[in-house]
Amino acid sequence: MTGITQLNTNSNLDQSSHQCDVLIIGSGAAGLSCALKLPEHLSVVILSKADITEASTFYAQGGIAAVIDDTDSLDAHVQDTLICGGGLCKEDVVQAIVESGPGIIQWLDELGVPFTRNTATPGTSVSNDLSSLHLTQEGGHSHRRIIHAADATGVAIWQVLAKTVQTRKNIKLLSHRTAVDLIRAKPITGQKDDHCCGAYVYNQAENHVETVKANAVVLATGGASKTYLYTSNPEVATGDGIAMAWRAKCRVANMEFMQFHPTSLFHPKMRSFLISEAVRGEGGHLLLPNGERFMHRFHPQLELAPRDVVARAIDHEMKRLGVDCLYLDITHRGEDFIKSHFPMIYKKCLEVDLDITKEPIPVVPAAHYTCGGVVTDLAGSTDLPGLYAIGETASTGLHGANRMASNSLLECFALAFSAAKDIASQYEAETLPALKAKNFKLPAWDESQVDDSDENVVITHNWHELRRLMWDYVGIVRTDKRLARAARRIQLLQQEIQEYYSHYKVSNDLLELRNLVTVAQLIVECAKLRKESRGLHFTTDYPQELEEAFDSILIPTEKL
Ligand code: FAD
Ligand code: SIN
Repeated sequence: MTGITQLNTNSNLDQSSHQCDVLIIGSGAAGLSCALKLPEHLSVVILSKADITEASTFYAQGGIAAVIDDTDSLDAHVQDTLICGGGLCKEDVVQAIVESGPGIIQWLDELGVPFTRNTATPGTSVSNDLSSLHLTQEGGHSHRRIIHAADATGVAIWQVLAKTVQTRKNIKLLSHRTAVDLIRAKPITGQKDDHCCGAYVYNQAENHVETVKANAVVLATGGASKTYLYTSNPEVATGDGIAMAWRAKCRVANMEFMQFHPTSLFHPKMRSFLISEAVRGEGGHLLLPNGERFMHRFHPQLELAPRDVVARAIDHEMKRLGVDCLYLDITHRGEDFIKSHFPMIYKKCLEVDLDITKEPIPVVPAAHYTCGGVVTDLAGSTDLPGLYAIGETASTGLHGANRMASNSLLECFALAFSAAKDIASQYEAETLPALKAKNFKLPAWDESQVDDSDENVVITHNWHELRRLMWDYVGIVRTDKRLARAARRIQLLQQEIQEYYSHYKVSNDLLELRNLVTVAQLIVECAKLRKESRGLHFTTDYPQELEEAFDSILIPTEKL
C-alpha cells in the first residue's frame, strides 16, 4: 500500500468553497474508474469519507463476471443473470452490461491488474492474452466465468486504479470529506428545471462544511448494508448517496432487495469477514453441526444455488436447530489447493486460530449488497439533470430481485464508463446548464442556528437501535407484522434524528445516522409495497410469487 495513502495530504479544499468540472463522491471501483475515463481537460475531484481504501471494492474477494472462455457465451451470462434476478431484471440493461464485460477485463488487464492466470503445462509458457486468465465458479453461473486475483480481487483492482489516478494531473483525491447534501438550483435565471450544481461537504479534519460547485456530480457512494447489525461491508456503507439523492428528489427503487451473503465468518474476534462464494465454487460443502450436508433439500444446484436460496436455507436450518452458525468445509480439497486458491482467507482465519485446511469454517449470513438504489438509465443519469449515480448506489435494472455473484464489479465499471462518456459528450455539446452560468454563486452552508452537540449518546444509541431492529424485523424472512413494527420505530427515530440534526453541528457519525435512518425507511417502504415473495424479498404472509413482476419505485413527492 505504499504511496497510495499519501494522497490524503493532497488537499486544496481548505477554503469554504471550491469549484471543479466533475465532483465524484466515492473512491471505490465506480468512482475511480469514472474519473479515469473522463477527458483529461476536465478537472475532477473525488471524495472519500474515510481513508481512501475504505470502500467495499477494497474487500471484494471472488472476482468479476465476464465472458472470456470460448465455450461460454454472452447469451448464457445474460440468461443466468435473468434467472437469478427473479423476473425483475431489465433485459436490455443486462444485455448491454454483459456485452461490456470482455472490454472491461481487457482494460483492467492492460492497466496492470494482476489477475490470476492458468499455470503453464511443463515445456510451454502462458500467453498474456485474456484466454490465459484463470476462471473460477460462483453461485448461479452456468459456466466458470469469474476473473479474479486469487481471493483478493478487490485490493488488486483498487490499488491499480488508485495508482493510475495518482498519475492524472486533472484528478484530486480527497479523503475524510463527507458529502452532506447535493445542491439543487437553477443556475440560469428563468430556467425551468433544477440542476445539480454541487454538494455541501463536511471536512472532518477542519470540522467545517465546504461548498463544492461542479457542473456534474457523480454519486459513487456504494451500498447501504450498514443498515443491518451484521454485515460483510466496511463502515462506510451507510447508503449516503441513496439518501442524498432521495432528499434531492430523485426516485429510488427496489430497496427491499437487500442481499444477505450466506457465508460470513462466525467468530467473536472477527465478525464481518467474508468467506467467498468461490470457496463453494471450488467444491466447499455446507454442513449442519452434525456434519451432514443439507442443500439437496433446498435446490438442485446445491451449494451453488442462487444466493437468496442458500442464505434462506442456512437461516432456516439455524432457526430449526436453534444454533448460532453452520459450517463450510473445504478440507477435502487438500492443503496445497486451499493455500494457493484462497491465500487471504486462509491467513485471515489463522489469525483467529482457525486452520481451514483442517477444520470446517463456522459461518452465518450477513447483509452484503444493496440491489436497489437511485433509479438511473444506462448512462447513470438520475432524475436530476447533472446528477449521475453509478456502482452499488444505482438501480439500473441489472440485478432485479437478486444480484448474481460477481456481477457487481462488472456493473461498477460498465456504468462508470458510460457515465463518463455521457458527461464528456454533454461538455462537448455544452448542454450542462451550470456550464453556461459561470458567475452563478451557490448558497453558502449556514450554521448560524446550530450549537455544538451536548449529548453524543443520542447518536450511538439510535445507531445501535436502528441496526438491531432492521436485523430482527427486516431481515432474511419478513412478515407484515414485523415490517409494521419496524416502520413505527423508524418513524420515531427519524423524528428524533431530524430534530437533533436541526439543532447541532454536523459530525460524520450524525451524517451517517441521518442517512441510515432514511435508507432504513426506504427499505421498509419498498418491502411494504411487495405483496409477494420474489428473489431476496421473502415474506411468510405472501410466500408465492405474483404472475407479473413489478419494480417498487418510491417517488419523493409522495409523503412517506
Ligand atoms: P464502494 O467500493 O463501496 O465505495 C464507496 C465509496 O464512497 C467509498 O470511498 C466511501 O468513502 C465513499 N462515500 C460513501 N459515502 C460518502 C459520502 N457521504 N461522502 C464522501 N464519500 C462517501 N462484488 C463483485 O462483483 N465481486 C466480488 O468478488 C465481490 N466481493 C465482495 C466482498 C465483500 C467483502 C464486499 C463487502 C463486497 C463484495 N462485492 C463483490 C460487492 C462489490 O465489492 C461492491 O458492490 C462494489 O465494490 C461497490 O463499489 P462502489 O464503487 O459502488 O462503492
Ligand atoms: C464473494 O466472493 O463471495 C463475493 C462475491 C460477490 O459478492 O459478488
